[in-house]
Amino acid sequence: MGGGLMSVVNSHAEALRPVVCKLSGKVCPELLEVERQSNRPPWGEELFEREFANRYSRIYGARLLGRIVGFLVVHVVMDEAHVVNFGILTELRGQGIGRVLLEEVLEDLRREAHKTVTLEVRAGNLPAINLYQSVGFAECGIRPAYYSDNNEDALTMRLDLTAPVSWRSTDDRDCASATKAA
Ligand SMILES: CC(C)(COP(=O)(O)OP(=O)(O)OC[C@H]1O[C@@H](n2cnc3c(N)ncnc32)[C@H](O)[C@@H]1OP(=O)(O)O)[C@@H](O)C(=O)NCCC(=O)NCCS
Repeated sequence: MGGGLMSVVNSHAEALRPVVCKLSGKVCPELLEVERQSNRPPWGEELFEREFANRYSRIYGARLLGRIVGFLVVHVVMDEAHVVNFGILTELRGQGIGRVLLEEVLEDLRREAHKTVTLEVRAGNLPAINLYQSVGFAECGIRPAYYSDNNEDALTMRLDLTAPVSWRSTDDRDCASATKAA
């Protein structure tokens, strides 16, 4: 996965907008590859299997040209949601794919009348922090030395889903609803 994908994408310029769908049931090599490129230490197959079996967990995938190029895992309990994992293939970052995926997940949660979304992010992860702020998340705390690999602090961020949407940038949706399973 990865090698040459960018050149294929470049020859399909209009296809850069991913299709966002809920993934169901099966851990595939593409998902593991995105994870390997996104997190340290990366989740293994067993952890993903547990997430697929967890009734409170949803795994959304971003597909481009039929391949999974990003994913977002969110836990939903009552009217609260918590983003627990999110990544895009390295060679496709910075092209708007993460934004489309995140916005479609938030739209799904909003449609279902959930009220808040929270998450933790490494204090030095500016791309992710910028993205979260741009869709309305606000910093609400710090967890010192939260990440055990380098003792980096986590920022906690929160989004009020009941607040008016001022960030929406993805109007022409490929997926009428991201609740579609794939
Ligand atoms: C964070 C991540 C998911 C963003 O996905 P992406 O597809 O690269 O993001 P997009 O191209 O949609 O960019 C959306 C916004 O993010 C911010 N952003 C993206 N890349 C950035 C960079 N290199 N520097 C600063 N801000 C950046 C910008 O605000 C950007 O909006 P703009 O293009 O209008 O300026 C991706 O960088 C990633 O997979 N990182 C590794 C895993 C990770 O950090 N996950 C989050 C854990 S909390």
